Amino acid sequence: MPLCEMPTSKAMEMINVNVVAVTRMSRMLLPGMEARGRGAIVNVSSGSELQPHPMWAIYGASKVYVRNFTRAIRHEYAPKGIYVQHLSPLFVSTKMNNFSKKLLDGSLFVPDAETYARSAVNLLGRVQNTTGYWLHGIQYTFYKLAPEWARIKIGQLMLKDFRSEYMSNNVAKTK
Ligand SMILES: NC(=O)c1ccc[n+]([C@@H]2O[C@H](COP(=O)([O-])OP(=O)(O)OC[C@H]3O[C@@H](n4cnc5c(N)ncnc54)[C@H](OP(=O)(O)O)[C@@H]3O)[C@@H](O)[C@H]2O)c1
Repeated sequence: MPLCEMPTSKAMEMINVNVVAVTRMSRMLLPGMEARGRGAIVNVSSGSELQPHPMWAIYGASKVYVRNFTRAIRHEYAPKGIYVQHLSPLFVSTKMNNFSKKLLDGSLFVPDAETYARSAVNLLGRVQNTTGYWLHGIQYTFYKLAPEWARIKIGQLMLKDFRSEYMSNNVAKTK
């Protein structure tokens, strides 16, 4: 939804979960890992980090924070034996996508949580930046070839489509 349609409490909650919690958890765990000289952190951003996201402004911006924060602390802590992975999935069929039946139903490019997690966990310790799932990797690579203005437009159209799907389902339910 457009920025000001989102209730303030929801907007703050999103920043709290996506930005504040990631920062606080990393700060909480790193000193112990540093003392042991080993450890691993996996921070989950999203393909929405690729460009500004009209209709998803806070979510997309919060994921840019996660990406840059994760890559920055990697440089600080890798020399101390700590592995810091930046995991950037595209769509996965989980309850955060319950606004769309199409996403919940899944598809080749929208795996279920178990398939995605199995694939992502296999990459732990092997790659530092990854989508976590090979078909997402292909999508991500092709998507990045498009100019930013085109990605913004495509993203906006996709989110408008999800919003229409959500609205029509909700209106249908209240009838
Ligand atoms: N699914 C996708 O398509 C997708 C794509 C790209 C990135 N991601 C990222 O992947 C990560 C995991 O999401 P998921 O797909 O696994 O979704 P999910 O199954 O809906 O899990 C989200 C988790 O976040 C917790 N959560 C949500 N709002 C919260 C709040 N206000 N306070 C405390 N906890 C809260 C939920 O807790 P409860 O179980 O108690 O509700 C749940 O454990 C997220 O960072 C998401 O942005 C997901």
